[in-house]
Amino acid sequence: MKADAFKIADGVYWVGVLDWDLRDYHGYTLDGTTYNCYLVFGDEKTALIDNTYPGSSAQLWARIYDAFEKEGKEPKIDVIIQNHIENDHSGCLAEFTKKFPDLDLYCSSKAVPGLKSHIPSLENFDMNVVKTGDSLDIGGKTFTFLEAPMLHWPDSMFTFLEQDGILFSNDAFGQHICSSERYDVDISEDFLMRHAQKFYANLITPSSPLVLRKLNEVVELGLLEKIKIIAPSHGQMLTKPMKIINKYQEWASGECKDKVTFLYDTMHHSTQKMAYSMMEGLISEGIKVKSYFLHTDGRSDVVTDVLDSKAIFVGSPTMMNNPYPSLGDLIYYFNALSFKKTGYEKKAVVFGSKGWGGGANRKLTTDLEGAGFEVIEQYDLTFIPKEEDLIKCYEIGKEVGRKLKEQ
Ligand code: FEO
Repeated sequence: MKADAFKIADGVYWVGVLDWDLRDYHGYTLDGTTYNCYLVFGDEKTALIDNTYPGSSAQLWARIYDAFEKEGKEPKIDVIIQNHIENDHSGCLAEFTKKFPDLDLYCSSKAVPGLKSHIPSLENFDMNVVKTGDSLDIGGKTFTFLEAPMLHWPDSMFTFLEQDGILFSNDAFGQHICSSERYDVDISEDFLMRHAQKFYANLITPSSPLVLRKLNEVVELGLLEKIKIIAPSHGQMLTKPMKIINKYQEWASGECKDKVTFLYDTMHHSTQKMAYSMMEGLISEGIKVKSYFLHTDGRSDVVTDVLDSKAIFVGSPTMMNNPYPSLGDLIYYFNALSFKKTGYEKKAVVFGSKGWGGGANRKLTTDLEGAGFEVIEQYDLTFIPKEEDLIKCYEIGKEVGRKLKEQ
């Protein structure tokens, strides 16, 4: 196939892959994504940063050949920098080591066993291990490496191109967006930041303390003022680095809005009626409400809104003494994401309709507390809510709204 390389700076090209059709990535719903790869031409050597998902390399190769043609050089890759081992960024590595067997591969120490495990043909391939502060000069282009463990895997690292001020951050600062445009400023800022928030909520939240530490390290290394572009491995390149860096600082510090996210399921609409009345109470206090109906809505969108909410309202009917199974999916996910690591303990209200003995509220309370939420209110009722019950729901919403505003 034929596809063009996109020039970012002198001798620096985006040569990534547009995946227009991806709708689900291990449970993360999306409308396509990109696997961003970058080609850097030095006077002496040419370096490729990251590659792409297995089976999707045709675009990458086409763009690489186009970049060499634009530079008037014969195609030859001398260096591969592998910032992360997950196979959306390393899945075609063996194609490159096969075509250019003399190339030098640079990665973090944690990446070595991972790459060898994912790509058995590399079992005996010599890899150059780099650590924070190490650098590599390919002739007028100098890379400095910065290990970034748990942003978002133990092996992750950043690569900074000194001469052009480009930070190749791999997954960190990414967004699952597939667009014909390459820069942040080419698309709507709200759309971009919503996707950046979704990416953070789903992939980075548990590492929030490490985000703050890493941002401090970037300052201490004197990199902050040098960064002109952040070039992540998914989505748009970011020409206003401080915008996303400030957002990461905010999300990692548990800063929340006067906002509540509802997540609920319902059997015969009783729990739904309770939810709607509670929402009205919150809205009357000026609280922003976002609602997810778990019959249809997916967990990756729910947690995007939970990230900057002060509280969640969790509703479920009792079914055979337990909450609806759809709630269990989210509770497992809350356990994994551990929002409490942002330093703020989010509040939770549990509610629902029961038939006989109940049980959903009890179980939800225990599980939410185990997942790091502070349950501040529980309310259940039998069968169908009467008018006075719905008024009580409204009052609960209003009272919680007042408390959240005082925080
Ligand atoms: Fe985009 Fe951790 O892979």
